[in-house]
Amino acid sequence: MLTRRAFLQTSGTLGTAAAAALASGGLARVAAAAQAAGSRSAADLARDESFWREVQQAFTLDRTIINLNNGGCSPSPRVVHEAYKRYLDISNQSPVYHMWQVLEPNIEAVRRRLALHAGCDPEELAITRNTSESLQIAQLGLDLAPGDEIVTTNQDYGRMLNTWEQRVRRDKVVLRKVSFPVPPPSLDDLTARIEQAITPRTRVIHFCHITNLTGQIFPVRAIADVARARGIVTIVDGAHAFAHFPFALRDLGCDVYGTSLHKWLSAPIGTGFLYVRREMIPRIWPLTPATPDRDDNIRKFEEIGTHPAAGHNAIAEALVFHETIGVERKAARLRYLRERWSAPMRELPGVRMLTSDDPEMACGLGNVSIEGTDPGKLTAHLWERYRILATPIKHEEYQGVRVTPHVYTTLQDLDIFVGAMKEAIGAGIGKTATA
Ligand SMILES: Cc1ncc(COP(=O)(O)O)c(C=O)c1O
Repeated sequence: MLTRRAFLQTSGTLGTAAAAALASGGLARVAAAAQAAGSRSAADLARDESFWREVQQAFTLDRTIINLNNGGCSPSPRVVHEAYKRYLDISNQSPVYHMWQVLEPNIEAVRRRLALHAGCDPEELAITRNTSESLQIAQLGLDLAPGDEIVTTNQDYGRMLNTWEQRVRRDKVVLRKVSFPVPPPSLDDLTARIEQAITPRTRVIHFCHITNLTGQIFPVRAIADVARARGIVTIVDGAHAFAHFPFALRDLGCDVYGTSLHKWLSAPIGTGFLYVRREMIPRIWPLTPATPDRDDNIRKFEEIGTHPAAGHNAIAEALVFHETIGVERKAARLRYLRERWSAPMRELPGVRMLTSDDPEMACGLGNVSIEGTDPGKLTAHLWERYRILATPIKHEEYQGVRVTPHVYTTLQDLDIFVGAMKEAIGAGIGKTATA
């Protein structure tokens, strides 16, 4: 049998490439493919399966399952997962030394790298465990008086709405939830709906950069401008936005932004960040108190007690993987994947896309509604019969199946999904009695 070393020695240039690929868990192959792509446009490259094949191979997956719920949580590429495990091993040698003294200080390097990608100053970025923690820091940390109002939408994330509801019960603030059609007629329509809900008592506007329910992108800058002109604080839920499509926080103009990095960045599970505009930092109390000398220091939001350093340090590896692909290319590919499954779905009777086709309004996350059909029963069928994971969405105003492929998803995965949906719809799976 050929040993690994003998194979590499005998296979010439292929051996060199293979050695690099083995050493870096596939990152080198993605880098080589990106270099070969040169100046080709993102839209052009989105359709080049040979490029995306290299990206797909950089993940260690269970390919017997078609995972179309990466919006929930994404697997990490091999190179990220290996860094994560390596840091865990190092920590376990002697945590008080190896974790606290060797690994933990390097969170500053992660902060700088993340800030570069997010388009903000590192002094405005705290590393957290997820979006929930990031947003709750602001939601629970702002001083609000009884009668103060918060404007949000009825399509914001359940946990974030629950957090405000607790302040309603505890602090007697008032929560105003705006409704909007899916998809809405325009971005201006969304801004207008929020603006109309503002009263002289409005203190906070809280909304998603892109919703988890239908993938609707919000005009953050326009809403932030409306708010800033009235002295209202903006909190943006970016759980699904960062590393999904390109933007820079400094262009958005919001006061607070929270995201999870275990979704579209494919960083280790339990990683996220909180951005707070510099002038706002002293106005927000941390959830886990810090000393007064840290009142205007973004690090006050990281005083969470003992926690593993492995996760937040491996974010750096996830950023390298992400930048090797390039965020423009990634967004174009994710849009292409959505088109791939949604175009044939649209042809079916009773099927309606709840996600806009306008690239300003949506990216890789899509939701399809099947008239008179329970999405929970439909997705249960997809799982039981086809081992396809998709997400049933049941909102008070609509229902549908949410589909979130990722960069490792193959076209064949999506074609199988479309075939499975056709079969299920044809067989009347999940038909409600009234339909
Ligand atoms: C819009 C939105 N906000 C917040 C969250 C919470 O994210 P996490 O569970 O990573 O804190 C999610 C999770 O899916 C989400 O979709």
